[in-house]
Amino acid sequence: MKGVVFNILADMVESSYGIEAWDGLLLATGLEGVYVATESYPDEELYALVEAASKATGIEASALVPAFGRYMMPAFVEQYPMFFPEGQTLKQFLLTVDAVVHKEVRKLFPDAGLPEFRYRDDRPDALTMVYRSPRRLCALAEGLVQGAADHFGERCRIAHDVCMHRGADRCELEMEFNAA
Ligand code: HEM
Repeated sequence: MKGVVFNILADMVESSYGIEAWDGLLLATGLEGVYVATESYPDEELYALVEAASKATGIEASALVPAFGRYMMPAFVEQYPMFFPEGQTLKQFLLTVDAVVHKEVRKLFPDAGLPEFRYRDDRPDALTMVYRSPRRLCALAEGLVQGAADHFGERCRIAHDVCMHRGADRCELEMEFNAA
């Protein structure tokens, strides 16, 4: 994972629980906690921090990871405004993630660990993103989608019945927009 991801995690922990909470996580994991945005660090460090945060807060990792994704999106909007042109809808944005956003991220960071998304688009108010990644961070993807929905001021309901954590070879995020 890129240092930028760790820095956003540190921000989230510090803004919710204070700087000593982040220090506590570093102490618990034995990590140094110095992350350069453009450098890569082992994914295991991120998982160890999430695990320690889960122990410290009593919140399951399965709930922390999407919360982190949701928090991450405004940071992406600020750092990469070119991926959020005026006038786009949430669905239009999501359709650009694989072929535009992550493709550009790959150019900026050739060693980035990025997922593959394919799309099923057969209704105007719905979209399915088919996620494949050896990192199986589908919970992060869900949070990122919710963060994007916040950004666009839209509502999005996600069904996630097909999941790699339940034996499938892919995850399917079946989204309905502006659903109650
Ligand atoms: C809703 C939209 C998006 C979704 C669902 C999504 C999904 C993901 C997921 C799940 C990962 C974790 C890696 C993996 O699963 O293999 C990831 C990594 C990443 N994504 Fe996205 N992403 C979205 C939008 C963006 C945007 C707008 C940016 C801004 C530039 C971005 C930049 C990155 C970066 C930098 C990484 C980390 C790569 C690394 O650490 O090596 N993504 N994305």
